[in-house]
Amino acid sequence: MTIYIKPISLERPDFAGLLSGISVANGISKDDAAAIEDGMNHFAVLVLRDQQITDDQQYAFSEHFGPMEQATGDLDKSGTRRLSMKVNDISNLDEDGTVMAIDDRRRQFSLGNRLWHSDSSFKQTPSKFSILSARDIPASGGNTQFADLRAAWDALAPEIQKECMDKICDHSQLYSRGLLGFTEWTEAEVAFNQPVPQRLVRRHAGSDRLSLYLSAHAGAIHGQPMPEARIFLRELNEHATQHQFVYSHEWQASDLVIWDNRATMHRATRYDSEQVRDLHRTTVSDNAPTLQQPV
Ligand code: OGA
Ligand code: MN
Repeated sequence: MTIYIKPISLERPDFAGLLSGISVANGISKDDAAAIEDGMNHFAVLVLRDQQITDDQQYAFSEHFGPMEQATGDLDKSGTRRLSMKVNDISNLDEDGTVMAIDDRRRQFSLGNRLWHSDSSFKQTPSKFSILSARDIPASGGNTQFADLRAAWDALAPEIQKECMDKICDHSQLYSRGLLGFTEWTEAEVAFNQPVPQRLVRRHAGSDRLSLYLSAHAGAIHGQPMPEARIFLRELNEHATQHQFVYSHEWQASDLVIWDNRATMHRATRYDSEQVRDLHRTTVSDNAPTLQQPV
């Protein structure tokens, strides 16, 4: 079978594609990987249906797209993890596979995924692709929404683009969780989560287009008073997440969704948190800190 990609919605012909013609479980060829990479450069989000896979198969598939991240951004790095360090646990389950209690600190931390963000923007070298596999999904709700940050950049007024151009933001999970009032950190966590600098405007290597680089983890702009920085970032976030830039993915079991963190933000939407929601994420790293990448 050959790979075929079409837009998921004619409303947004250049954002979010539906890919058919491969089986992730069976492994893919170098040519398949190149075709997927081309599709990603155009659509930034690709949806594959009916991919029943193991974590190892998901990891092997992900490795085609670059060096792999480990799940060091998770709160729980200890031996009590439900999944291996190769996989980010995007679920509401504890290590026994039961739904976490409302006062479970890990559950509170994971609510950060309901804020618009780009994965691992809090790491020196942030992530390139995230690859999310739906293992068990609630009967309704719990969509994942994606915002097109290249289109959002293109639609900005030229004077705002100019203002953005050379700005450097600080990103940290202390900022994103702080927005939710999650402020009780251990000393070790604070030390581990110190802010890292990232460009506000990036040139997307695969398409040569400019993109905003926004994320709930961004909490300061170099050389600016905090309120100036925060209101500017808030306004940019409101601009970038307007309906015309957003694709909302309604999960079916065994969906696999790939997105490009260099040119999109995403967030989870509300669902009945007594129901199980279990997704597994593998994450491909970018090749350098954004300040080392040409604009
Ligand atoms: C992620 C994430 C959102 C969701 O996997 O990185 O933010 O809908 N997921 O679970
Ligand atoms: Mn995420």
